Amino acid sequence: MPSATRNAPERGSFFNALRLSHTRTPSMNTHQTLMTRRTIHDYKSDPLPEGVLERALQAATRAPNHKLTNPWRFTLMGPQTRARITEIGVAEKRKKRGELNDTAEASIRTKFSRPPELVAVSQVIDADPHRRREDYAAVACAIQNIQLSLWSEGIGSKWSSGGVTNSPETYNVLGIDPSMEEIVGFVWVGFADVVPDPPRTPLAEVIRTTA
Ligand SMILES: Cc1cc2nc3c(=O)[nH]c(=O)nc-3n(C[C@H](O)[C@H](O)[C@H](O)COP(=O)(O)O)c2cc1C
Repeated sequence: MPSATRNAPERGSFFNALRLSHTRTPSMNTHQTLMTRRTIHDYKSDPLPEGVLERALQAATRAPNHKLTNPWRFTLMGPQTRARITEIGVAEKRKKRGELNDTAEASIRTKFSRPPELVAVSQVIDADPHRRREDYAAVACAIQNIQLSLWSEGIGSKWSSGGVTNSPETYNVLGIDPSMEEIVGFVWVGFADVVPDPPRTPLAEVIRTTA
């Protein structure tokens, strides 16, 4: 059972319902889904129920996109690719931290191999900087749609970006031509082991009202 709700005991029964989603789909309205979705860092290795990832990717293709450019591309990684991406993950961590001890290396390998699905989301590169910026926004909306669709079915996810997603080796392994597409992020997908609850700046501090 995820230990998640450590920081949010009042939501315990709700998350308990989510945890049972192997067997039943929790019913959440849209607002509940987007208020409770959290970035998941710790996953169970259980496979996803049939169809859940496809529904999420269908939702991604419904994201708003100016001029209907449909700028998103999705690369679903099979086990051999995942093994190669894991090696890139270990190498990137070494670059950052220097030599890794066995425990640190094992933890990176677990992080990369445990979630049952890993999807690279890339953006088709447009030569026009304005279009490129708008397309990035559209791809970001698509990723959010993936995350919310999954969460509405009780499945956790994480959008990650950085050393591994930027690595030329990653583009090579995924067969993505960096002159044609830019990787916007990886989306890690699986049942949550822990659901964190990071604080948010209260709405009152980020809102202004004009006359
Ligand atoms: C563009 C972008 C890149 C992100 N990259 C990472 C990442 O590399 N690693 C990570 O743990 N989370 C990453 N996140 C997730 C954020 O850390 C997360 O959304 C934030 O901590 C708030 O948590 P929440 O999603 O649970 O509300 C990324 C989010 C965005 C929008």
